[in-house]
Amino acid sequence: MDVYIKEEQIATKNLVPTVKVYGEKLITEKEIVEGGNEEKIEYRIWNPHRSKLAAALLNGLSKAKIEDNYKILYLGASTGTTVSHISDIVKKGLVYAVEFSPVSMRKLTRLSENRTNIAPILSDATKPKQYLNLVEKVDFIYCDVAQPNQSELFMNNIDFFLKKDGQSIIMIKSRSIDVNQKPQKIFKQEEKKLKEHGFQIIEKVKLEPYEKDHICFLVEKSF
Ligand SMILES: C[S@@+](CC[C@H](N)C(=O)[O-])C[C@H]1O[C@@H](n2cnc3c(N)ncnc32)[C@H](O)[C@@H]1O
Repeated sequence: MDVYIKEEQIATKNLVPTVKVYGEKLITEKEIVEGGNEEKIEYRIWNPHRSKLAAALLNGLSKAKIEDNYKILYLGASTGTTVSHISDIVKKGLVYAVEFSPVSMRKLTRLSENRTNIAPILSDATKPKQYLNLVEKVDFIYCDVAQPNQSELFMNNIDFFLKKDGQSIIMIKSRSIDVNQKPQKIFKQEEKKLKEHGFQIIEKVKLEPYEKDHICFLVEKSF
């Protein structure tokens, strides 16, 4: 995965140089590129307080494989903060970004005007049949909907859209499932659901200190 981690900071190479997405810092570094020439490369600092994927990577998530030509299905795209960094990573690929809020979708659509590898889809991720004709089989599914039924909709989308041998990530926020239960109990319960449906947990990473009571599961499923 094309991300740069240095001294507790994480960044991606800006696919649209000079353009910021959510007020993030841009930095330019001189690098030796193919052929031995020196080139200026612009990076976007990836804020782990704004993006759970950045938090998971800074906290040690290391086995997620996202290549630059991957097709990604992103569930719960919101206004595109994390989507934009994934768009930097899959510069030759495509991010299908599903979001059901029309307000967030307006910003996401604007983002996709500059970033042509983002395909915004206004739809409900609990109803994958609604976008079956728009989304092809993908290499990776990323789910961050913060809903009580998130594991179910995540697994359902995997059954419809994930290629054989693909990986997926789900971000679980315990308070979205049950505010009265201890987070650890919720995490165990969701892990059990995933395993019972034939998923293998490749990595699990908590998101503190960036996000309280959240966990990231990286999973694979043999079909
Ligand atoms: C925690 S936010 C996502 C933040 C985003 N992933 C990021 O890092 O930039 C959850 C988003 O999921 C969306 N959402 C919740 N349930 C959904 C559903 N059933 N279908 C599509 N989007 C949904 C919400 O509208 C919200 O924008």
